[in-house]
Amino acid sequence: MSVHSEIKKITTETLRKMKFDGEKISMLTAYDFTTAKMVDAGGVDAVLIGDSASNVMAGYETTLPITLDQMIYHTQCVVRGIDRALVVADLPFGTYQSNPEKALESAVRMMKEGGAHAIKIEGGKEIEESIRKIVNAGIPVMGHLGLTPQSIYQFGTYKVRAKEDAEAEKLLSDAKLLEELGCFGVVLEKIPAALAQKVSESLSIPTIGIGAGSHCDGQVLVYHDMVGMNQGFSPKFLRRYLDLYSEITGAVSQYVKDVKNADFPNNQESY
Ligand code: KIV
Repeated sequence: MSVHSEIKKITTETLRKMKFDGEKISMLTAYDFTTAKMVDAGGVDAVLIGDSASNVMAGYETTLPITLDQMIYHTQCVVRGIDRALVVADLPFGTYQSNPEKALESAVRMMKEGGAHAIKIEGGKEIEESIRKIVNAGIPVMGHLGLTPQSIYQFGTYKVRAKEDAEAEKLLSDAKLLEELGCFGVVLEKIPAALAQKVSESLSIPTIGIGAGSHCDGQVLVYHDMVGMNQGFSPKFLRRYLDLYSEITGAVSQYVKDVKNADFPNNQESY
């Protein structure tokens, strides 16, 4: 028996059972092979190839510019590094909103070419038909409500969403709709903790929070934020587990000194 077949892979059903059993779900982003290997080895339950790759990997200000081809490339890299976690890939802006046929085509490409195990898309009622079409094709779909970054130009700000009753009610009804449509989970981004709790208690599918308090069924963070590579990004919800920006710039400046002083390479490092 190979080592691979001994690893119990996480599926959408595993996540549903974790919610049922009261076990919290851990999710992190990854966009490349090496990071994927590390987060999988660290035991994360699900890996998200987020369209935050547009910010983190490509340096764009928003998630809007990244293309489906680029997201597929990142997904292929991540999939090669994963043995255990469920791999969820974002469909980027403009690849599913216009019509259900296009949405299905994009989702099929992500599964077939990218090798994702599931896709994530932003929105509720507005994209109902697209979700229905993708789910009917046998593709697992994760929803995303609250602060949906692909709508940033409509929101105009990255502030907490659904603080007012009307938006909170719509979010709850969208969440119930996502469950009815067959989504296996839903990300809740930057909404009041009390609302996230209400949504989580109203659904049988897991909620994965980011800036949505402790009552969600799981949590997701952007890997580069949680290991402290992004110094300029410090929202209240972010817990930094490392200060890699300082560690890496420190190591680089030591390397530069060693090269300038002809200290590197030394005899042991030479052939
Ligand atoms: O793109 C992303 O990284 C995301 C998470 C923040 C949930 O959608």
